[in-house]
Amino acid sequence: MIRELIRAAIYAPSAGNCQPWHFYVVKDFCVRKRVYEEACRQEFLKEAPVLIIVCIDRNESADRYGKRGETLYNIQNTAAAVQNILLSATDMGLGSCWCGDFDDWSLQKILQMDSGRIPVAIVAVGYACFEPSAPKRKPIDEVADFIGEWEARREEATSEVRKIEHCDMGGTIFHDVNLYGVEISDVNLAEGKIFECNLSNLEIYDCRLDGMKVNGTDISSLL
Ligand SMILES: Cc1cc2nc3c(=O)[nH]c(=O)nc-3n(C[C@H](O)[C@H](O)[C@H](O)COP(=O)(O)O)c2cc1C
Repeated sequence: MIRELIRAAIYAPSAGNCQPWHFYVVKDFCVRKRVYEEACRQEFLKEAPVLIIVCIDRNESADRYGKRGETLYNIQNTAAAVQNILLSATDMGLGSCWCGDFDDWSLQKILQMDSGRIPVAIVAVGYACFEPSAPKRKPIDEVADFIGEWEARREEATSEVRKIEHCDMGGTIFHDVNLYGVEISDVNLAEGKIFECNLSNLEIYDCRLDGMKVNGTDISSLL
């Protein structure tokens, strides 16, 4: 599984495909403990059975991109590799966390890194004891400008009636879902959560909603 994670990492894009990265994969308890001590003693680093230390390898970075390659692409290349590790870990049922808060020089020393290697992230990997929900995100319209001629919002343009009927969706988390004009009837939505969804013109009939929250507010009393 760990090799699969590294495979995912090396399939990340890199400027000019120069692949200027190196990975230290640490299982050894004593080494993990020393890494933990140099990374603000963040508990998950001690608990996780494997730490992947992702480094920029300046010996492999392309000279042709000059300062931009050095200061920007090398960070982007390795960040893409880290993200691939996180996504693959989730896909494989593993838990993972990106840690950026550590002392570079101490890590270089602990792992006896070749010169030119700069640690940029520690990824802790293991089996999670629970599945955390993602912290709240800013709304799309706050972080994105859509430039050009856009059709009227897709959801408002549709005239088709969409329905969700007769099903058990208890505990479902809706996140960034367009429910514009949807009719929901005879559905169990108990303990569900709705974040950043378009609920305009949503109609709900005869549904079980106990414990259901919208933006943290209990809406079970609505029915
Ligand atoms: C560059 C970077 C550094 C991070 N460093 C840490 C860290 O040192 N400790 C930690 O617990 N999480 C760290 N994180 C994880 C973020 O806290 C986390 O991604 C964010 O809170 C959003 O949560 P989510 O990824 O679970 O959706 C880091 C994330 C990034 C991208």
